[in-house]
Amino acid sequence: MGAYPELWYTATTGRRITSICLFFGFRCESCRLEVRGMTVTIVVSNQKGGVGKTMFSVHLAEYCAERAKVLFVDVDGQGNSTRFFLDDRAKAGKGASRLFSDGEAPEIIKVRENLAIIPADKTLNDVEAAPLEVIMLPRRHLAACAAGYDVVIIDTPPSQGRRLLGALIAANAVVTPLGLDKASFEGIEDLLNDIKVVRAKMNPSMRHIGILINRFKPANKEQRANLRALQADLGDRVLSTVLQDRSPVGTAFDNRKPIWKRSKGESAQRAAHEFRAACELVYTRATA
Ligand SMILES: Nc1ncnc2c1ncn2[C@@H]1O[C@H](COP(=O)(O)OP(=O)(O)OP(=O)(O)O)[C@@H](O)[C@H]1O
Ligand SMILES: [Mg+2]
Repeated sequence: MGAYPELWYTATTGRRITSICLFFGFRCESCRLEVRGMTVTIVVSNQKGGVGKTMFSVHLAEYCAERAKVLFVDVDGQGNSTRFFLDDRAKAGKGASRLFSDGEAPEIIKVRENLAIIPADKTLNDVEAAPLEVIMLPRRHLAACAAGYDVVIIDTPPSQGRRLLGALIAANAVVTPLGLDKASFEGIEDLLNDIKVVRAKMNPSMRHIGILINRFKPANKEQRANLRALQADLGDRVLSTVLQDRSPVGTAFDNRKPIWKRSKGESAQRAAHEFRAACELVYTRATA
C-alpha cells in the first residue's frame, strides 16, 4: 500500500477513502459497514398518510446507492416507491408479500448497479388478514435476501398493521417523516409510543433516528408554531434538517428522478440541498 493507500484501496475495492480509519489506518465511504460486515436496515415509517415516507425513502435509497449496495423494499400495496424504480409492481404473490409467508423468498429485481428492489405486489394488503405471527418473518427473510447488501431501506404503508410491525422488527434504524399540519401533528405521541413498545418487546437493537419534518411551509404561522412546540417538546429527536414544501420535488418524483437530478430553478436547487442534507444525516446516524 505504501504512501498511496487511497490508490491502493480504490483499485482493490472500488471505493474512495474519505478519512482515517481507527482500525485499518484509512477509511472508505462505507467503511463502517465493511468493518462491521453487517447490513443496516433503515425503515421509513409513520402511520399517517401523505407525510412523505415514499418521497424520503426513494431519495435515501438514491443517496445511499452512490456509496453502498442498496436493497429497497416496498411493503406498501400502493406501490408508489416501486413505480419510482420500476415500470410496475411485481406479479401477485411474488414480491414483498412473500416476506410475510413461510414459503419462497421474494423476487429481487436489479434497478441498476448498487440498487435492487423487492417490489410491492398485488397481494401485499392480504398480509393484514394473516395470523399475527407473520410479523416475525420479514426479519428472517431479509437476513438471507440482504446478504451482500450494505443498506436495506423499507418504505411502509400508512397504517399500524402487520407490515409496519414486521418492518420495525427487522429494523436497525427508523426515521419518521412528519407534516406540520394539525392532523399529522396530532398522531405523533401514538407513533413514538409504538416505536418504544416494539423496541422494548421485540427489537431492542432498533434505534429511532428521529422525526424528519417534511413539507414545511415557513410562511404558515400555525406550522411555525407547531415546529417550535415540537422542538421544545422532543429536543434533538426532531432532526435539524427540515424539508420544505417545494413543487419541483413532486415533479421530479413523477419523472422518477431524485430532486438533485432536476437542477433547474432556485426552488429545485434548494430542495436538492435539503434532501441531500437529510439523507446524509440519516445515513450517518444509521451507520454510526
Ligand atoms: N418536500 C415536498 N415538497 C412538495 N411535495 C412533496 C414533498 N414531499 C412529499 N411531497 C408530495 O406529497 C405527497 C405525499 O408524499 P408521499 O407519497 O411520499 O407520502 P407517504 O407518506 O408515502 O404517503 P402514503 O402514506 O400514502 O404512502 C406526494 O404527492 C408527494 O409528491
Ligand atoms: Mg407512501
